[in-house]
Amino acid sequence: MIDTHSHIYLEQFDEDRGDVMQRAREAGVEAIFMPAIDLDSLEQMKKLHHDEISFYEMAGLHPCSVKELEGGFEATLRTLCAREEIYGVGETGLDYYWSTDHVDVQKQSLQIHCRVAKEVQKPIIIHNRESTADMLDLIEEQQDGSLFGIWHCFNGTVDEGKRALDMGFHLGIGGVVTFKNGGVDKTVAELPIEHMVLETDAPYLSPTPKRGKRNEPAFMKYTAQKLADIFELSLEEVDRITTENAERLFGFNQYRN
Ligand code: NI
Repeated sequence: MIDTHSHIYLEQFDEDRGDVMQRAREAGVEAIFMPAIDLDSLEQMKKLHHDEISFYEMAGLHPCSVKELEGGFEATLRTLCAREEIYGVGETGLDYYWSTDHVDVQKQSLQIHCRVAKEVQKPIIIHNRESTADMLDLIEEQQDGSLFGIWHCFNGTVDEGKRALDMGFHLGIGGVVTFKNGGVDKTVAELPIEHMVLETDAPYLSPTPKRGKRNEPAFMKYTAQKLADIFELSLEEVDRITTENAERLFGFNQYRN
């Protein structure tokens, strides 16, 4: 399995990262894509190593880290994202839950990430909270046929999901699909698994039965099992389909060591 969204480089894992990686491997995780929170995240990512798990870095500025954009931000982001070892642009997006004080700056930042993603032709990773309409409108404005990526932690309606798919996006399916009262499982059931990828968002949003605990890549097996139940597929089929989707999206097929 491929965890397409994991902040495994954060300090929440400093004490037992080796054990966390071992459990991930035992659960069948072979590759982990790491979205950035800010520009310092890259330094933390570089310290990671495991003999049997591949780590892939991404560069960007989380909407909750956007207070003000420095003048040279777009140029800096472009330089970073053009590097061969950077596999995606993000995470970026709009988050109106914590604060709506910085909405304009968040939008400006998302536009910058879209422009850079189109230029470097790498997937953009989009975070969205209480901002779906604005997020989809902005993506539509930016879409010239060359923008693609993941709607991370998909939590929209069926229509919103379809709109994202029509714009060439994949849906990142994480722990919330396992939550009893969320209704995300019913929405996901109406959308094609051929455009879904698995993710954890570790250390956040642990799936049931680990809800409320620190999330880690090994827990993705619960999310995968939920997709298997929803689509009446075996766990192996869910693994194969979502792995192929992630490989296609990130533009290469060689994950295995
Ligand atoms: Ni995240």
